[in-house]
Amino acid sequence: MNIGVDYYPEHWDESRWPVDAKLMREAGITFVRLAEFSWCKLEPTEGNYDFSWLDRALAVLHKEGIKSVLGTPTATPPAWLHERYPEIYPADAKKYRLGFGTRLQRCLNNEDMRRYSRLITETMAKHYAKNPAVAGWQTDNEFEGNLCYCETCAAKFREWLREKYGSLEALNEAWGTIFWSQEYSGWSQIPLPWEVKCGKSHNPSLQLDYRRFASESTVSFQHEQVEILRANAPEQFITHNMMGLHDSVDYFELGKDLDFVSWDNYPAGFWIQGEPTRSDLAHDVIRGIKGRNFWVMEEQSGITGWETMSRRPVPGQIRLWSWQAIAQGADLVQYFRWRSCLFGTEQYWHGILNHDGVPRRRYREIKGFSEELASLSAELDGSSPENSVAILNSYEQNWAFQIQPQAKGLLWWDQVRRYHDALGRAGVGTDVVPMGADLSKYRLVILPGWYLLRERDAEKLGAYVKAGGVLVVSARTGVKNELNTCRTEPLPGPIADLAGVEVDDYDPLGDATCPVTLADGTSLSASVWADALVPKGAETVASYAGGCFPGEAAVTRNETGKGSCWYFGTAGDAAFYDSLLSRVLEDSSIEPYRGLPPNVAAKYRVRNGATWLFLLNLGSAEASVPVHKGAKHLLGPEAEGDTVRLPAYGVAIYRI
Ligand code: GAL
Ligand code: ZN
Repeated sequence: MNIGVDYYPEHWDESRWPVDAKLMREAGITFVRLAEFSWCKLEPTEGNYDFSWLDRALAVLHKEGIKSVLGTPTATPPAWLHERYPEIYPADAKKYRLGFGTRLQRCLNNEDMRRYSRLITETMAKHYAKNPAVAGWQTDNEFEGNLCYCETCAAKFREWLREKYGSLEALNEAWGTIFWSQEYSGWSQIPLPWEVKCGKSHNPSLQLDYRRFASESTVSFQHEQVEILRANAPEQFITHNMMGLHDSVDYFELGKDLDFVSWDNYPAGFWIQGEPTRSDLAHDVIRGIKGRNFWVMEEQSGITGWETMSRRPVPGQIRLWSWQAIAQGADLVQYFRWRSCLFGTEQYWHGILNHDGVPRRRYREIKGFSEELASLSAELDGSSPENSVAILNSYEQNWAFQIQPQAKGLLWWDQVRRYHDALGRAGVGTDVVPMGADLSKYRLVILPGWYLLRERDAEKLGAYVKAGGVLVVSARTGVKNELNTCRTEPLPGPIADLAGVEVDDYDPLGDATCPVTLADGTSLSASVWADALVPKGAETVASYAGGCFPGEAAVTRNETGKGSCWYFGTAGDAAFYDSLLSRVLEDSSIEPYRGLPPNVAAKYRVRNGATWLFLLNLGSAEASVPVHKGAKHLLGPEAEGDTVRLPAYGVAIYRI
């Protein structure tokens, strides 16, 4: 277990480097990530590489025992490259071309961009392959799906479609282009979903294929870099800094080429203030990309913001976020950035040090965390979270809901979060995994609205339930096939038999609410969506008590084989999920963490039968948490009897 920092030696006078490196070592920092935005300094003019400054910086750091992760610098192509090849600039959906002066101003399908990306990657890999200061590589920086609308992308998209469908007849049939007389008689007629002439409402099948293509474009761009790094620097690892709940690139595909994944965590970044559960979900999403531990490549270490600023992290919060990352499977927490920059767009995105470079309270807090981590490293090394609940995740479903949100509250992460938050409140650890994962290790699997349902996936879920698993299926499952056209079977399509229900009618509620009652008389409030269910073998768990479908079934449970399949025909507020999931957990023989107060997270890491419990108070008030008798106290306040009093933003760790 390590801590690190994102460092930009090119932003500072060389005479400062040894001061920085010494301060880093004194804080327990053993890793830095660097160079990911320094192309113009590594190759100041075409073909003239100058790595001497980076060599010197690495040596200064290494002297203090610090290892480096080098970023391939392709997120910021230099001005000379754009001047020579202006077609590298990507075009937006209105066909407007981006210009110079920001970052990511490149189309990943452009052949010149690719050639120069391969060249700089290969030259760096050869130069650094044997450098003992270099531990590994980060590809590019925060890849996004290549949502570019340039002519190169249009041509490549058509090639991609030809490959996929074989003939125009097949494509016309698959997309239903007879609608509004859109049948294509030549490949060149097929548009990208350009907004300028057609607005946003293109054929949904075309839109989904474009999203798949845009994601694959990024994956294949990264793949070229990975092949070069593997061939030239085989002893160094390869990772990428993902963005948590980002969704324009399929992270499962992007992750396949990596040794492990990393992500950038800004829990109180200025755009997500007041959403304390977002990092909790994002850590689980990221761990699920490869089903293993990960790194935090950038962790918030101060006030964030470009033109305006967030509130400062409250003292103790940086330490709390760091332990939260470890608790959920991080093996390294690296802070962004070492020192706040004096110039450029991110002057106010603060680092550990302020502009003055003097170690102050955030430096001391991080140093304190690193001492705590070091004291527990021997305990925790090699451990990882292991959970008996999985939520299934899919980028393709996510895109389909973006293309047609249908009703407020149905967007993918909204759906996932409602379940994930409720499981978090119950203190039940959750994995977030792809449909292809081995489900047999889970007692409970949750399927958010699996809008595009393939038969083989329905069969896989059926086999999981029959073997004894508990499955929760959500409304809007099985509406479509993978072409993004509607199915003809009664809903929920290929999973209807397993759920033992048929959807007779539905009402897209959005913000509207509708009362629901459970058999024991509990009343709850439903919203977002309402399916009117006709049980076909399933028992009714909850019924609408007025509103759209009075007396009709809203939530059902069907026993099949050794397991059971629940169908949630509607969604709701926190109380709705807390109440229903407590029944689902009981059905799955999963014990919740009884008495866990609001805003306190309970997370577990395990290794060879040993289990560590992390209690994290994400809230701003003291909380009393019951603790298992006999738990061995390792960090934080000691329990009094069987209760521990966690201060605001406090952390306690036990071996249980
Ligand atoms: C991240 C990015 C960093 C930096 C930071 C603050 O998303 O990877 O390079 O820009 O945000 O804006
Ligand atoms: Zn393009």
